Amino acid sequence: MPAQLPITTYGMEILRKEVKPVVKIDNKLVELVDNMFYTMINANGIGLAAPQVNSELSVCVVDISCVDEYKNVKPLILINPVILDSHGESIKEEGCLSIPDVRAEVKRHDKVYLQYNDFNMKEVKIEIEGFLSRVAQHEIDHLHGKLFVDYLSKEELSKVKSQLRKIQKHKIETDYPLFEN
Ligand code: NI
Repeated sequence: MPAQLPITTYGMEILRKEVKPVVKIDNKLVELVDNMFYTMINANGIGLAAPQVNSELSVCVVDISCVDEYKNVKPLILINPVILDSHGESIKEEGCLSIPDVRAEVKRHDKVYLQYNDFNMKEVKIEIEGFLSRVAQHEIDHLHGKLFVDYLSKEELSKVKSQLRKIQKHKIETDYPLFEN
């Protein structure tokens, strides 16, 4: 039975660190991925990166199939993902389980060409676009210590500053468990 892991929140060091590459697929990694899916789905998330569950490994999961429009889109398990190429740009609103109750518009690429390792450590290359690509880019950013609020202009940031402060002081309520430092 997978476990629902507590989510790390804005202000915590782990969310600002560069992750370490996965070098081998062992039971611990399989368990981490299982738990990440379980945690994401229970928190109504569509993507989750390892630092959000206090792990320093280069792993993220994406599953947008809960959105009606994308119900046939298969979930992604991205191990050691790298964006090789990207095309186009669009601006859309985003949020993050680690930054509750903050939403803002972020510019991202429409299409990305990704390389990652699968569960056999085999190198896989895929091209993804649209919403799936946006979520993957958000999650891959997490692996490099980058958060969506980092893209905001000074003006946009000032609008969400008080909420960010609340999150840093743990003065927030969520319907999923948060990591206590
Ligand atoms: Ni996020």
